[in-house]
Amino acid sequence: MSNSLKVALLGCGTVGSQVAQVLLDQSDELKARVGREIELVAIAVRDINKPRPGIDSALLTADVEALLGRRDLDIVVELIGDIEPAGSYLRAALSARASVVTANKALLAVAGPSLFEIAEANKVDLYYEAAVAGAIPIIRPLRESLVGDQITSVKGIVNGTTNFILEKMYNDGADYQDVLAQAQLLGYAEADPTADVEGFDAAAKAAILAGLAFHTQVVLDDVGREGITNLSADDIAAAKDMGCTIKLLARCDLADDGSVSAGVYPTMVPLSHPLAGVHDAYNAIFVESRYAGHLMFMGKGAGGAPTASAVLGDIVIAARNRARGPAGLHLSAYHQRKIIPNDLVCSKFYVSMNVVDKPGVLAEVAKVFARHEVSLQAVRQNPDLGAARLGVMTHPARLSDLKAAVIDLETLDAVSAGVTLIRVEEE
Ligand code: NAP
Ligand code: HSE
Repeated sequence: MSNSLKVALLGCGTVGSQVAQVLLDQSDELKARVGREIELVAIAVRDINKPRPGIDSALLTADVEALLGRRDLDIVVELIGDIEPAGSYLRAALSARASVVTANKALLAVAGPSLFEIAEANKVDLYYEAAVAGAIPIIRPLRESLVGDQITSVKGIVNGTTNFILEKMYNDGADYQDVLAQAQLLGYAEADPTADVEGFDAAAKAAILAGLAFHTQVVLDDVGREGITNLSADDIAAAKDMGCTIKLLARCDLADDGSVSAGVYPTMVPLSHPLAGVHDAYNAIFVESRYAGHLMFMGKGAGGAPTASAVLGDIVIAARNRARGPAGLHLSAYHQRKIIPNDLVCSKFYVSMNVVDKPGVLAEVAKVFARHEVSLQAVRQNPDLGAARLGVMTHPARLSDLKAAVIDLETLDAVSAGVTLIRVEEE
């Protein structure tokens, strides 16, 4: 197959094994779509002795350096994950003028701009549709379809594992550890589930989305982050009581002065909101733009086959570019936008606290909020949540003001330590 386009696959796990299978089983279809044969020449793995049904063991190698040293590769598909050694492998592949397809959001969120520089210098492609929201086409719509518009906000559910866990905890009262184990079994969770449950995975995706949407560089450290591990049964009960569910929401916003904010937080979402209806490991992303208005993208955000669909789309497009000559798009980050510190970003909050149940306590609590210029929308004391469990819904306020109010609340004799904050999505 001398005229074929040569593809090397790095990684043959949850996603890689599905990609390999399609490249092997659908080669005639793919050839027709590209105009040239796509030849899977090798698959790099850690352990070549692991059983891999449907994969010819002659394709396997554990020597990634030697594979990348071949220098006849047209496309390298990286499905190993993590920052290293994946980052070094991608630099080597791009420098050797292979186009790269990756699903590695962790790497892109810290080293995306430098990888794009190498791709551009070598006139090759770097595609990453699968890095954000699994099967959902969102990178290409932001990079291409909406590139003539002005995007003002991108928000949504971008982590399937946490959506799956939160839903089971909310609906069935299921235990956190049990549901996490199920998510791992279904291939949703990252190799180290800390990335999912502590919000790092969603924060990496938020950095990628914010950078693309607002044509600027946003890295993982710029993204505010809170995971779901501190959510308690009380928080879930409070959400139910308020007619809400709890989702891990990513938000990227462009302010009127051109600065940008990005964050990932557990958020109460009213049951009437479309995001409340995003179930299992599904993801959904809302885009607001000046001319197109509101757009919603929804689909499977995790799992081997859905993610492989996005990877295969990138492989076909990189292969077409390779077959016809020009490389595709490069990074469009021509703005140097100011990143708004997360403490200064406004949101509605639900504040819950244990208080002594006696006259005057509510007035003391209200005074603290007033002192920090936090305006209150509603106060609840639901007997089902404990006789002296107080829930306060605020109007939009800055996180820094809320944090200061919490410090002062906890100094009151009538309020116990352990006051909690959860963001609330507007209806
Ligand atoms: P995975 O199941 O853990 O598979 C990782 C693969 O990489 C395995 O085949 C492993 O080899 C191989 N590998 C690990 N270290 C290696 C090394 N140093 N050299 C060569 N091979 C190595 O991971 P995954 O879930 O498929 O995820 C792959 C990528 O896709 C990650 O970037 C992830 O964030 C992204 N992603 C995953 C999903 C999902 O739903 N799973 C969705 C979207 C994006 P062995 O098989 O020998 O262990
Ligand atoms: N672990 C990720 C998730 C996979 O649960 O969404 C997709 O990136």
